[in-house]
Amino acid sequence: MSQQKLRIAVQKSGRLFEDSIKVLKDAGISIDNGKEQLKASSRNFPLEVMYLRNGDIPQYLRDGVVDVAIIGENVLIEKGKDIIRGEKLGFSKCKVSLAVPKSFKYNSINDLDGLKIATSYPNTVKDYLQEKGISADLHIINGSVEIAPNIGLADAICDIVSSGSTLFKNGLKEVEVMLKSEAVLAISPKISEERKQILEKLQFRLKSVLNART
Ligand code: PRP
Ligand code: MG
Repeated sequence: MSQQKLRIAVQKSGRLFEDSIKVLKDAGISIDNGKEQLKASSRNFPLEVMYLRNGDIPQYLRDGVVDVAIIGENVLIEKGKDIIRGEKLGFSKCKVSLAVPKSFKYNSINDLDGLKIATSYPNTVKDYLQEKGISADLHIINGSVEIAPNIGLADAICDIVSSGSTLFKNGLKEVEVMLKSEAVLAISPKISEERKQILEKLQFRLKSVLNART
């Protein structure tokens, strides 16, 4: 019987990709490059890497078709509250924030009551507003969210803020930080015992890398 491999999902394109590959490499795991293949095996560790779209990863973990993933906590909070969150990996730090046009005289979250908010993070916004006793009209869009106030689609937005440059370029100001996020190891609730043992080896190596970095 061939030895099982741990199946890990990594973001195919976007902000996490390079650092995800780098942390694996620093852990001594070499992966044949070529993410066009969407699936690659390591030559020196029982690991199979799948390159997937960020937003699809929680479902793959839930279904158990991948065992672990390197993903932003923000995505798990939005779409994968049932997924086990493992080690924080120290990269891809960002915030998920509410922002309004610079001219908006913002005093408190109450100012957003009854307004339109454009976002790719509807669950996160809903939970946050509910906690504050605010109701708003959410417009769900998948990207370029910061354009929404300028084209009259919304009064405010909620999106990821990293450098703050997208907000600035679109004449917006951050008014509420809903959560802070970084890349984490996410673990499928359906991982098998055999693969869990490989995962423990991976976690041991990742911990050494992270310790060495700080
Ligand atoms: C992401 C995110 C923000 C921006 C934040 O967008 O949705 O818009 O980055 O980064 P910053 O604070 O450093 O500017 P991305 O460029 O990935 O495009 P998308 O929204 O169209 O997916
Ligand atoms: Mg964006």
